[in-house]
Parts: sequence; structure tokens; C-alpha cells
Amino acid sequence: MKNIVITGGAGFIGSHVVRLFVNKYPEYNIINLDKLTYAGNLANLKDVEDKPNYKFVKMDICDFDAFYQLMQDEHIDGIIHLAAESHVDRSIKDPFTFARTNVMGTLSLLQAAKLYWESLPEKYEGKRFYHISTDEVYGALEMTHPEGIPAPFSTKASSEQQHEAYGEDFFLETTKYNPHSPYSAAKASSDHFVRAYHDTYGMPTIVTNCSNNYGPYQFPEKLIPLFINNIRHRKPLPVYGKGENVRDWLYVEDHARAIDTIFHRGKVAETYNIGGFNEWKNIDIIKVVINTVDRLLGRKEGEDLDLITYVTDRLGHDARYAIDSRKLQAELGWEPSLQFEEGIEKTVRWYLDHQEWMDNITSGEYEKYYESMYANR
Ligand code: NAD
Ligand code: TYD
Repeated sequence: MKNIVITGGAGFIGSHVVRLFVNKYPEYNIINLDKLTYAGNLANLKDVEDKPNYKFVKMDICDFDAFYQLMQDEHIDGIIHLAAESHVDRSIKDPFTFARTNVMGTLSLLQAAKLYWESLPEKYEGKRFYHISTDEVYGALEMTHPEGIPAPFSTKASSEQQHEAYGEDFFLETTKYNPHSPYSAAKASSDHFVRAYHDTYGMPTIVTNCSNNYGPYQFPEKLIPLFINNIRHRKPLPVYGKGENVRDWLYVEDHARAIDTIFHRGKVAETYNIGGFNEWKNIDIIKVVINTVDRLLGRKEGEDLDLITYVTDRLGHDARYAIDSRKLQAELGWEPSLQFEEGIEKTVRWYLDHQEWMDNITSGEYEKYYESMYANR
């Protein structure tokens, strides 16, 4: 029996990780610990909420005493830590909240875990603190890849073939941290604390850095769900700057599978990059999304391209992210399961089929926040 806390389980990626673990490991007790901020939504987990191996606990990760008590009451031996403030635009407006949650919250979990695990006869034996981070901590790469952006690569290609196709202009596990936004600075700081707890106290930690995720249940302030919803309602699509920034996109269930693999088989104190070699310029991915929404809604493909509205660029907008995940592929045999075309089709279809989920989020407070975001630009 394993007792595992997944923090941020009511959010986008966390809900996929909780679902995977609850369904795949009936012998584990899975505790979803979440404060339910604006980004947390228990509707993301309706299908697992009645499972006997699942429990939800509403808690702030900054509440040291409450978490220390939970560790003791539930005999926690594994922590998968996803809870965070996660939106770059919000971090630009309100950096303090990001430092509090991402830095102090992570430190609070680490210290409570340390005190509890060190009090046990077996100490750190069989324990694991797995911290989920982002590629954004590495900073930004040059806008253009030396050979231009390679076409999305077949996941069946060997890592040597991928290496040959992609060259070396990528974030590696050894790339020096160089965060630019308050979000990535706070995530970088939390990563350092996690590694410090291994190096100083011997805590069995693992850190992974993943590229941009897309898929069902993502809060519609992020590019893909926001744009799908706006296209549906024929609202403007605010493209920052010239739309030339590059992001590397991974289907969220592939990230959740990587987390499962690494939690169980990753080496303590190691870092693994997670990504699917799938770079897109924003404007290109936006066109794919528009065409897909139009087609699935029975509109003429491309009919909504005129919703594209170029707006003032994001402050400090990172040019390009691109993850080299060959270490994870070679050492643990993980690889992405979906080609991007398949993933984006599934994703658009999901949002169009779950209009009620979207409407519940995009009414009320969200609407006010979203309007103020753009009024002040
Ligand atoms: P999200 O914003 O959708 O969800 C975050 C969750 O954390 C929410 O359920 C929220 O209620 C909870 N939370 C926030 N503050 C909390 C607090 N103080 N105490 C307890 N719970 C709190 O985020 P996401 O996109 O699912 O990202 C999850 C993690 O993965 C984050 O750590 C993020 O940095 C990382 N990550 C995200 C991406 C991406 O593309 N979304 C890529 C790589 C890494
Ligand atoms: P986002 O989904 O916020 O993820 P991140 O900033 O963590 O990469 O944004 C993805 C890209 O899309 C990023 O380059 C910013 C851009 N973007 C827009 O052009 N318009 C938008 O309304 C949003 C939300 C993002």
C-alpha cells in the first residue's frame, strides 16, 4: 500500500495525473490536496471522485501545520507536487502571489515531509518527493532554429534520428537556469529548494521540466482553450506581438504518463526533461486551431481567420522554448503517444463537446478578470 499526495490535483495537469493514478493503482491511496484557487476545479475529476482509493483535501500548500498533520495522519510516503500559480500573464501583474505559492509553498511541503520522514524508523527508505517543473526555468532560445523549425517528428523515430533532425539548439537537463518572468523565476527557485533538500538532508527528490501542455481541462486563460472558446463565440483572438514566438507542445496525457514512469522508475536526485519535439510558432498553431474549430463546427475552414487580432506583446516575452527529452526516452523508455494533429483534433473536440464545463468557468469573476487583463494592456 502506498499513500500518495498529489498537490494541485484539481488543476489542469494535476487532474490528469490523479485520474491516471486512481485508475491504474487501486492499491494506492491517492490524496488530492488543492486549495481550489481560481484554477482549481473539482468538476475536472467527476469521474473518479467516488473511487475508494481517492480522497480530496482542501488545503493551502503554504499551511505548514496542516500539511505536517496530514503527513502523519495519512502516513504519506510519496508526494507528487504540481500545485502552483501557473500563468505568466498573471505573474507579471502579481508576482508576490507567485513567490508565496511557488516558492514558500514548495518549501513548506519539503520541510513538513522532512520532519515526518526523519521521524520514522525507516527514514527516507521507500519515500519520494517528486516536483513538477517547467522548461521556462531555462530561459529562452533563439527565435529561429538554425535550420528553421523542423516539422513535428514521428514519435516512432529513434533518438539518434531525432538528434540528427533537431541538432543541439535545445534545453537539456544541464542547461543553466535563466528564468525571465516572475512565474519562471518562482518555479526556478522552487526547483533549487527541492534539489537543496536532497543535497543537504538526503531527501529522495526528483525534478522534471516539461514543455507546454495542451488537452482537456486546461483553464481558458491559456492560449489553446482560450482561443477555441473565442473562435466558437466569434470573439477576437489576441495574438501577442507578431505571433512568432515558438512553443513546444505536449499532449497532457503524455505528460501524466511520463510522471507515472518517472515517479516509479526515475533515479533519485535526477532531473528529466519531458517534451515531444513538437515546436510551433504561435501564429501557425493558431491557424491550425482555427481551421480545426471551423471544420468541427461545420463552418467553412479558415472562415474565422479574421478573428486574429495582433495586440501589444507580453512584457519580456520568451522567444522560443524547445525541450530535448532524449534522456527520458533513452533511460526510461517513455515516448509521446500522439502526433500533434491527432492531439489537437481530440482537444478541440473535447472543448466543443464540454461547453457546460467552459461556460461554468467563463462566466462571472473570470469574465471581469479577462476584460481587465486586456483593458490595461
Ligand atoms: P493550473 O493552474 O491548471 O493548476 C494549478 C492547481 O494548483 C490548481 O488546482 C490550484 O487550485 C492549485 N493551487 C494553486 N495554489 C495553491 C496553493 N497555494 N495550495 C494548494 N493548491 C494550490 O496549473 P497546471 O497548468 O496544471 O500546472 C501544474 C504544474 O505543472 C505547475 O507546477 C506548473 O508549473 C507545471 N507545468 C505546467 C505546464 C503547462 O503547460 N501547463 C508545463 C510544464 C509544467
Ligand atoms: P500560454 O498558454 O500563456 O503559455 P506560456 O506563456 O506558459 O508559454 O501562452 C502560449 C504562447 O501564446 C505564449 O507565447 C504567449 C502566447 N499567447 C498569445 O499570443 N495570446 C494569448 O491570449 C495568450 C494567452 C498567449
